[in-house]
Amino acid sequence: MAQAPRRARGIEPVLVVIPTYNERDNLPPILRRLHAVLPGAHALVVDDGSPDGTGEIADKLAADDDRVQVLHRTEKAGLGAAYVAGFRWGLAREYATIVEMDADGSHAPEDLPRLLDALGDADLVIGSRYVTGGSVVNWPKHREILSRGANLYSRIALGVGVKDITAGFRAYRREVLEELALDEIASHGYCFQIDLTLRTADAGFEIVEVPITFTEREIGESKMSGSIIREAFLRVGLWGARRRWAQVSRSTGRG
Ligand code: GDD
Ligand code: MN
Repeated sequence: MAQAPRRARGIEPVLVVIPTYNERDNLPPILRRLHAVLPGAHALVVDDGSPDGTGEIADKLAADDDRVQVLHRTEKAGLGAAYVAGFRWGLAREYATIVEMDADGSHAPEDLPRLLDALGDADLVIGSRYVTGGSVVNWPKHREILSRGANLYSRIALGVGVKDITAGFRAYRREVLEELALDEIASHGYCFQIDLTLRTADAGFEIVEVPITFTEREIGESKMSGSIIREAFLRVGLWGARRRWAQVSRSTGRG
């Protein structure tokens, strides 16, 4: 037998990376919910020195539970940098699966078993708001327009078929993150999600979207900002132009 079917590859142990910035009231319930559905999963909280004391709360939770670990970073350096640090931490240990999940309850831990099941036939599973069965609850109209616009723009600029390319609820097989050049990732904000999707697709990995319901947070504030939007717009435009350029030079090079 040459290669084991993808289905046979194990997905455990699982590490759930949870980036936090000012999520003191959200973190304890999200960890409780996670461990209620997946008692064996480990969680890594990546806190960027939250002024509201999220980091100290995370330390207390970790002291009482071996399944919880905390990575403290000194300053707010963006979601992308927090995830890259969390991925490295996970890759340095023997996790087979590394999950991305927001701390604010927008991503329901109760959906995770379904995401993990789908990883049996894929390398990256995206919890998707924009496939049949997926939805968003309680988002103000402008947020929905922004998110749908970002997805449409990315699809046109990049030519990738993923419907929810900015989604932040995902499960990666470790092989994917091992293969991607994490040092090269310079995306700070939420375009990090687009960046990784693109790299994963370009490396030939199998991406599957499963529907989820994204529920807007009830406590605390979104960190979405004008600079995050500008970064995404500029980077996606640049990546799109580079892809076009590569296509054009390939076709003229041959002729
Ligand atoms: N450590 C760290 N550093 N965590 C951060 C930072 C940062 O600079 N910025 C945001 N976070 C954490 C938040 O504390 C939260 O747990 C999670 O990242 C998501 O941040 P939100 O600010 O709640 O994101 P959102 O609800 O506006 O955006 C959601 O939708 C985006 C667009 O689809 C997220 O799911 C994004 O990942 C997604 O790209
Ligand atoms: Mn949120």
